[in-house]
Amino acid sequence: MSESATELVTNPKIATISTLAAHEGETITLRGWLYNIRSSGKLLFPTFRDGTGTIQGIVPKAAVTPEVFDRVKSLTQESSVIVTGRVRADARAPSGFEIDVENVEIVHLVPESTPFPIAPKEHGVDFLMEHRHLWIRTPRQAAILRIRATIMRAAQEYLDTNGFIRTDPPILTPAACEGTSTLFELDYFGDPAYLTQSGQLYIEATALALGKVYSFGPTFRAEKSKTRRHLTEFWMIEPEVAFMDLEGDMQLAEAFLIHIVTTVLTNHRADLKVIGRDMAKLEAVIAPSEPSTESGAPSTEPGGPSKESGGPSFAPSAKGGLSSAARPPLFPRLSYDEAHAMLDRAFAEGKLEAPHIYGDDFGSPDETYICSQFDKPVMIHRYPAATKAFYMQPDPLDPTKALCVDVLAPEGYGEIIGGSQRVDSYELLRARILEHNLPLAAFEWYLDLRRYGSVPHSGFGMGIERAVAWICGLDHVRETIPFARTLNRIYP
Ligand code: 4AD
Ligand code: MG
Repeated sequence: MSESATELVTNPKIATISTLAAHEGETITLRGWLYNIRSSGKLLFPTFRDGTGTIQGIVPKAAVTPEVFDRVKSLTQESSVIVTGRVRADARAPSGFEIDVENVEIVHLVPESTPFPIAPKEHGVDFLMEHRHLWIRTPRQAAILRIRATIMRAAQEYLDTNGFIRTDPPILTPAACEGTSTLFELDYFGDPAYLTQSGQLYIEATALALGKVYSFGPTFRAEKSKTRRHLTEFWMIEPEVAFMDLEGDMQLAEAFLIHIVTTVLTNHRADLKVIGRDMAKLEAVIAPSEPSTESGAPSTEPGGPSKESGGPSFAPSAKGGLSSAARPPLFPRLSYDEAHAMLDRAFAEGKLEAPHIYGDDFGSPDETYICSQFDKPVMIHRYPAATKAFYMQPDPLDPTKALCVDVLAPEGYGEIIGGSQRVDSYELLRARILEHNLPLAAFEWYLDLRRYGSVPHSGFGMGIERAVAWICGLDHVRETIPFARTLNRIYP
């Protein structure tokens, strides 16, 4: 590293590509990497990136010293540089600006003998995943990671500003939460322990201590399924609220998702453009909907003003009358039975390859079909209790059904949120634990929550990667997390 380069590295007066609009006409300094370079004789067109975006530079031979011209010409892809130049507005440039380069300092020149492995051309997915640590430098991947960060921030922001307390559950746990078939087991000083599948059981405890809580952290599933929706390690954000019923849970999920999509649209138009996302599809999600019926007609027509735009009324009425204050749903809703009927019709019309068997959970093709019928997320509630987790409260109107909801994202993305009202009776919960062959001793503390001041309570979990895949319009979750962990991959 040259002396002046070292000096510049510590100089705080450095502009970033995303904020160049504030420097139009000024000479600024950028620190970053060479993404690509074109030349046409006496003109060089290097494209630089700095983590906040990319910008094209222009280097006419006549405008710089021969040393600077040769130095720029010698740059190889991903060489790190410090660039000084004048910011000029250019309507044709993707960012709206170009930079007339005056000087370039090389921090590290990638040798021509060992070039950066990911050239700006098509590569196979396996190759790219093998080089994920370098792949994330490309503009599209960087845009996705910026949007991921905003989705995580917006999700937390919604809960933080609505009175939820973040309470982090343990990652090492003595028992299963979401079924024993996807547990990662480890040796905890001679005893078996498991990586958490969900923080839910623990935040039920903190909800009874603090009222409205959430957890946000990595969760693990030893998923043997090799689909575009499954990771073995993923991030989940889970709100849990005491004295809240399923209706309140659904209202919370609606307002939560609307806040997240709105925040992404407000802050990431340039990134969404880099990814090639059809932003009209996201606008449709947050557009006011027609006052709809419970069964939720597809909201394809432009809607009238929504009756309510603020937060959800997720504080249900006083004990004894637990239906939440009614407000028109913001997203279409279908009961499991209605969804089944929709799939039946689709199969009869030849739009589905296999029939949906009543009583079964929905498969990926079923979910894909249902959610592609709507331009907003669709909320499917009251699944058969037998297909769902042990902790879900039965529907008093039909105890074979669980008071639960899955939120399916539009455009065929499928389930992004799973939630429910929890069993609040000690006797029923104990019976359920035994029916599911779960070790009672490991759940004694969980049963205590029903021994001492049990209340109806509800919550849900949203998988961050599923949300990122949908919001960014990606066809696989492996691009939604910096380093994906899947059935076949734990490197890099
Ligand atoms: O539906 P799930 O299994 O629900 C729970 O874990 C509940 N305990 C949550 C709660 O009520 N607090 O998972 C919730 C969400 C899914 O909707 C999905 O978005 C995501 O977590 N998810 C996965 N994401 C990526 N890869 C996997 N293998 C996932 N499994 C679940
Ligand atoms: Mg689920």
